[in-house]
Amino acid sequence: MKIALYPGTFDPLTLGHIDIIEQGIKIFDKIIITVASNSTKKPMFNAKERCAMISEVIKINKYSNVEVTAFDGLVVEYAKQNGATTLIRGLRAVTDFEYEFQMALMNKQLYSKISTVFFMPDEKHTYLTSTIVREIASHEGKVDSFVPKSVASTIKKKLY
Ligand code: COA
Repeated sequence: MKIALYPGTFDPLTLGHIDIIEQGIKIFDKIIITVASNSTKKPMFNAKERCAMISEVIKINKYSNVEVTAFDGLVVEYAKQNGATTLIRGLRAVTDFEYEFQMALMNKQLYSKISTVFFMPDEKHTYLTSTIVREIASHEGKVDSFVPKSVASTIKKKLY
């Protein structure tokens, strides 16, 4: 069984992330979306809330081979525990490359069996980040075309 982890902060999940998940579904038997607490970021939603938003999207979109879980610690350790030898990451633009290259090589150093595969989202999502979504929402802008409907309504409930 080909199991892949899709790690990230997902604060919140965007349509760009969905694009990556839907490409991954075609290749892997199971995808585990791993929500990192990420000590370098100050999230708007805690890990439990981010997982709940993703669970709802999985249910609504009827993804049968996608799970979500929160994790703390090294992503490669989590991969080992779950029998995953692939990490999925999105590459939106050249600017993502250096950071992703460094992470992929470092994860390989830490666990030689791990490979990182990169998917490119549709170009309409290349400018999208969770930070931009939070920024627009915090100024009462509409985020409906950047995130799934259920996520947009959770953001509204949180902010207003
Ligand atoms: N569409 C839209 N946005 C996307 C995207 C896509 N397809 N892919 C990435 N992004 C955005 C994210 O929304 C995020 O935006 P933000 O910075 O505004 O929050 C940004 O790109 C970064 O992406 P993300 O996937 O959340 O990466 P990250 O750098 O926050 O997290 C981890 C990286 C969690 C995977 C990494 O830190 C990790 O593995 N941590 C665990 C500890 C560990 O093992 N460390 C060693 C790593 S070598």
